[in-house]
Amino acid sequence: MDLPEELPQLYKRHIFACATQRPPMHPRGSCGNNGAGPLWEHLGKRIEALGLNGQVGFTLSGCLGFCSAGPLMVIYPEGVWYRPQTLGDIEAIIDRHLLDDVLAEDQVVILQR
Ligand code: FES
Repeated sequence: MDLPEELPQLYKRHIFACATQRPPMHPRGSCGNNGAGPLWEHLGKRIEALGLNGQVGFTLSGCLGFCSAGPLMVIYPEGVWYRPQTLGDIEAIIDRHLLDDVLAEDQVVILQR
């Protein structure tokens, strides 16, 4: 069976935000240790406050595989990875990517395997 070209989408966009928390001295580090918790809490509240829940899925995820680069979130279907550091960065991602449909360029992170 071939993969379908396109399936009906539940959301316009879906955000996966790494909520992994490892012990402080763990050699891999973690998004939790890099300050992810308050950022994701703010993002979730803002999505709800703006009434975006119907069109933006927001899922706290496990490790996304680039731990030392965190805190990391990825937005599909564009597949854009962001590394917000502050609540202001979260606001920029909301304003630009979610509301204005453009990249929040200052928060984009290009990851390499
Ligand atoms: S702990 Fe967040 S990417 Fe691994």
